Amino acid sequence: MQEPNFNDQDNRITQLIEQHQHLPGALLPLLHAVQQAFGYIPPTTVPAIAEALALSRAEVHGVISFYHGFRSQPCGRNVLQICCAEACQARGSRQLAAHTRQQLGVDFHQTTADGEITLEPVYCLGNCATGPSVRIGDRVLGRVDAATMDRLLDELTRVPLRFQSEPMASETGDTTRGSQ
Ligand code: FES
Repeated sequence: MQEPNFNDQDNRITQLIEQHQHLPGALLPLLHAVQQAFGYIPPTTVPAIAEALALSRAEVHGVISFYHGFRSQPCGRNVLQICCAEACQARGSRQLAAHTRQQLGVDFHQTTADGEITLEPVYCLGNCATGPSVRIGDRVLGRVDAATMDRLLDELTRVPLRFQSEPMASETGDTTRGSQ
């Protein structure tokens, strides 16, 4: 993801703060809005957020680091999440995660050197019955084994746009998010 221009970033942050600061419990919706706007929460925005909400910078940092969904660094072109919650662990997600980390050469919360894939853990995708589950963008896939993962990685790095626009052959109706 392209780094935002600082002036653009400042203007956008000011706008988002004005839109959210008067909401009850403004911090979480504001952080979500910032991440939506930039793909991550630039650390340089924390002072302005803290000041606007009468919080300390440490409090804002604490919330950002507490929630797995917030990022403090730009992510890759594709975000690949592997479910590490209990049901998926019982179905092999630890082994799948280890295989994926090895194949990509990155750990969780890191991005491949080519900027293509950011690997993240996630804790339940609502697809427990068909784990191990993974999410790529807004698509959730179930029963992902090492071979399926290899094919996903290959397609993401070679033809990512095709994956974004067409369901994969392995993606079946019973693996859609929320189906059990
Ligand atoms: S535990 Fe993995 S989708 Fe629910």
